[in-house]
Amino acid sequence: MFYLQCLIFFLVSSFNVAANVLNAEQKNCSCGYYDTGTENFFTDSIIVYFNETNSLPDTFLAEDYEHKYEKDWNAIYRQGADPANVRFNKSGSLQLFLSPPTKHHLVKGGSIRTRRRDIHHGSFRTFIKSPRRTLPGSAMSMIWQYNETETTELSIMNTNNPSRAWVGTFVNGEFTTRNLGVNFTNALNNSTANRNYTTLSGFLGNGNVDLWEYAEYRMDWTKDYINFYVGGNLTRSVLHKDNKGMPSVPSPFYFKHWSTGNRFSMEGPPNRESVANIGWIRMFFNSSSMTKDARDKFRGRCLLTEACSMNDITLRGSTPYAAQATKKWKQAKSEDPKRMPAVWISVICISLSTFLLVHAFIRRAPWKRKSGPTIHGHPPVSAVESSGPPKNPESNPIQDSNSPFEDPKNPFETPEHVLTSQDSLTLVHPSPGTSVYTGSTPDGPSRTASIRFDSGGTTPCVISPYSSNFNNTLEELHSKGAYTAKHGNAASKNSSGQTNTTFDAQSALPPPRMTAHPPSPRQRVDYLAGLVAMCSILVTVMHFGLTFVPAMIIPGAHEHHQSEHWAQQLIAPFILNQMWLGVFFTTSVRFLVAGYLKNGNMESIAKAAVRRTPRLMIPVTTVALFEYFVIDVGATTYLRYIPSITWSTWPYVTRFETIGHFISGILELIYLIPNAVPQITFNYCTGVLWTIAVQLQGSWLVLIGVIIVYEVKSPWKRMGFYVFALINHWYAQSWGSYLWFGLLLTDLDITYKYKEWLHKRPFAYYPLILSCWICVAAGFAANMIPNWIDFNFLTYENNIHPDPNTGEPYWNTDKAGYPEYYTPRLNGLLFAAGMQAIVELSPTVQWVLSLPFLLVLFPHIFTIYLLHGLVFWSWGSWLMIFMADRNIGYSISVAIVGVTSYMLLFLILPIVTPIIEALGKDTTALVWMTATEKSPPRRRTLFPFPDDLFARREHGDAAGGVARATRER
Ligand SMILES: *[C@@H]1O[C@H](CO)[C@@H](O)[C@H](O)[C@H]1NC(C)=O
Ligand SMILES: *[C@@H]1O[C@H](CO)[C@@H](O)[C@H](O)[C@H]1NC(C)=O
Ligand SMILES: *[C@@H]1O[C@H](CO)[C@@H](O)[C@H](O)[C@H]1NC(C)=O
Repeated sequence: MFYLQCLIFFLVSSFNVAANVLNAEQKNCSCGYYDTGTENFFTDSIIVYFNETNSLPDTFLAEDYEHKYEKDWNAIYRQGADPANVRFNKSGSLQLFLSPPTKHHLVKGGSIRTRRRDIHHGSFRTFIKSPRRTLPGSAMSMIWQYNETETTELSIMNTNNPSRAWVGTFVNGEFTTRNLGVNFTNALNNSTANRNYTTLSGFLGNGNVDLWEYAEYRMDWTKDYINFYVGGNLTRSVLHKDNKGMPSVPSPFYFKHWSTGNRFSMEGPPNRESVANIGWIRMFFNSSSMTKDARDKFRGRCLLTEACSMNDITLRGSTPYAAQATKKWKQAKSEDPKRMPAVWISVICISLSTFLLVHAFIRRAPWKRKSGPTIHGHPPVSAVESSGPPKNPESNPIQDSNSPFEDPKNPFETPEHVLTSQDSLTLVHPSPGTSVYTGSTPDGPSRTASIRFDSGGTTPCVISPYSSNFNNTLEELHSKGAYTAKHGNAASKNSSGQTNTTFDAQSALPPPRMTAHPPSPRQRVDYLAGLVAMCSILVTVMHFGLTFVPAMIIPGAHEHHQSEHWAQQLIAPFILNQMWLGVFFTTSVRFLVAGYLKNGNMESIAKAAVRRTPRLMIPVTTVALFEYFVIDVGATTYLRYIPSITWSTWPYVTRFETIGHFISGILELIYLIPNAVPQITFNYCTGVLWTIAVQLQGSWLVLIGVIIVYEVKSPWKRMGFYVFALINHWYAQSWGSYLWFGLLLTDLDITYKYKEWLHKRPFAYYPLILSCWICVAAGFAANMIPNWIDFNFLTYENNIHPDPNTGEPYWNTDKAGYPEYYTPRLNGLLFAAGMQAIVELSPTVQWVLSLPFLLVLFPHIFTIYLLHGLVFWSWGSWLMIFMADRNIGYSISVAIVGVTSYMLLFLILPIVTPIIEALGKDTTALVWMTATEKSPPRRRTLFPFPDDLFARREHGDAAGGVARATRER
């Protein structure tokens, strides 16, 4: 085989030599060009030697543009091109310069393009000197490109560190991974070298090309393959049969020197003017504008042997072309008639559904009742983290609990209730003598025994902002006669009174009075709800910042304005950081364990264990499925454009490859053991879902932990056990430390009633509060200090933990350094612990957290948590690009995007929350109910009608006649 090739090679070369001799002067290559190595034949050519000209030949055009944005997840600079950057030098080359970036992140380079746009398959060869190694961070590229997907690129990139310089070869806008190219250093040893190919420069392509100097780069494009050659070596081959989407349409050809600061390709950009050189360009190609007639004529006229050789270095000049060749090629429109019926069916279905929904909405007229059905007062149990405790205070016991409608017999026995209020109530009323709140704890004499919770949480006043369900509850109870206000005052200042007459009695009761101790305590119990709501808002603000204003959050990110720097130094360490997440974890424990701590009844553990997973996972699955769909239809298309405007490469989302990946991602969330990032992170807008895995795993931890703790009776041993567990979890870098802390606080409260104890003893109370504040301050300080000095506590703390794989401390491994975002940190733990203790103990803080706007949000936090990323990344990114297109400045755009995104998010809440609640809360309640309750007795199918209901009809007339007839036959 090899010999055969050699033979052909020699035969053809000798033919070429003969031909060269014949046409030494100027060849007439009207019969096209032939390459003996690849056996490709092309009709047209563009050949330029820049040592023989002082101006850009007419076949090329120097480009002049400024991109308003780039379509690239990692481009934080925009490209521009300036004809002034295309220059000639005396040593005989075309120089393409790259200017340093402007302060608006525009990097102007030099770019030339063929006037012809009809280049359709060909062999493209150039002699290029890469950008210098001393001016790092740019790319010299040869590209043919029709649109985003129909494109092929060969880029010579010097990168920030010259030892990492490489030549990348990308088809169809592939992600620029290193394995798609070759390194300068080892490029030519590793490549699949095609050693028989003779480069123009005369050397055999057998390696040893210095890519910092002039080298030949070549791309061959036919309908079956695209081959890339570097210095005469074939380095990559893309076959059409493996890659159906291989570029296949006519396009213009570009040479450009550019940089977008993409950290996965050229890096940079250089901060001084940089240059790359082109020695010559030789392109042989077919033209799509050649008509079929012309082609046939061409075939008839020419023999292959009359073609010029592509390897002939004496060839000059370019094939003439018609104006037609400079027009952009247009895909013939193919109207697919099969689509229309589908479209019409969809339109009809959508209109019908819309009509029915609107009709139902109008008929039910939710706005006439104050508490619209759309807003349910359930606090999400969520996961979000949250949830547990807050929920109670808030409200409806029902909510997670299954309440009346789920479990009419025993509405208040559900563990959730239990968790509810008690805590808060007691807190509120430290002194027994004062009447506190009243909560209207509904418990009737008849059910006294079964009521384990203390009411405050359930009081209507607490609920007030989102009361609707609660009303139902009370109402139902009332009608069952199960309910009397034992404590006498049902505090119902609530807005909910409106509902119905049955409830009126309640609302008529005098408003609650409260009194407080050391400092006067808040009379409300909803501060925990407020805390969680505040945390979730802060988390959304942080994600907004990471997406649109990175310098506000990430130290060292590029700043648009000086103010971002100050925000990062002064605000971000306090409110925009990971620590707030910890609060979700510590607070969520309470609702799981409070019931058990109170009465030692295993049923509450069983109930929590059964319901926890579906309660979190059903809503998560639904929203993830929705996002799958939305991303698939392209709602987040524009997200990819915004990094060049916002300079943040943080946002990234892609569709699931298949439905199988979706299912696997969801299952993984259920079973994944932290700490690891679930795969679904990249298929979900903002990667918040990793906390769900932490929550779920944490549930099992605390449910078992609480059983052990409960059995340890002597207080000092119990506390010793907590310390032991906390230290172990901290050392293992497990989020368990947060959950143990939550358990400790719950235990202190429920078993030891520490709040009452403390409120009676100011000498213990104030020092404790002070030390909590110190913990919180220490947590903040760890974030602040690196802004001023070199020591980074977070990094230091991370490094002393053991690496799970080797047991070595991280110091000694590659993983040393700043902790990943999903790794728990000590300062976060201090903060979460201190914060929650303060919130439970300090009336002032409680007052702040009970501000109505936080309470209104509380029922929606799970929805906010799940959906904010989608809003920012679809609507926000689209709007950002929309405004960039209209030259609206960055600051104004971000302000508008921020305001409208939050408005949109808040508008969505009342619609989505009930759905999420119905899916999560109601379904899980149903699961528990069916699991624990005896099913009602089986009835005959026709109950309550007689069995012979139909049989009897037969004795009547027509129907009977038919039946009889049938029977007779
Ligand atoms: C220009 O460069 C080419 C190849 O490097 C060489 O063959 C040619 O002779 C040069 N032309 C002139 C006028 O020097
Ligand atoms: C690019 O052009 C091709 C051919 O017309 C078309 O099929 C493809 O959808 C286009 N891609 C984009 C992103 O517009
Ligand atoms: C090229 O170098 C980079 C960095 O030095 C390395 O990660 C990569 O594996 C190398 N690629 C090849 C193909 O050798």
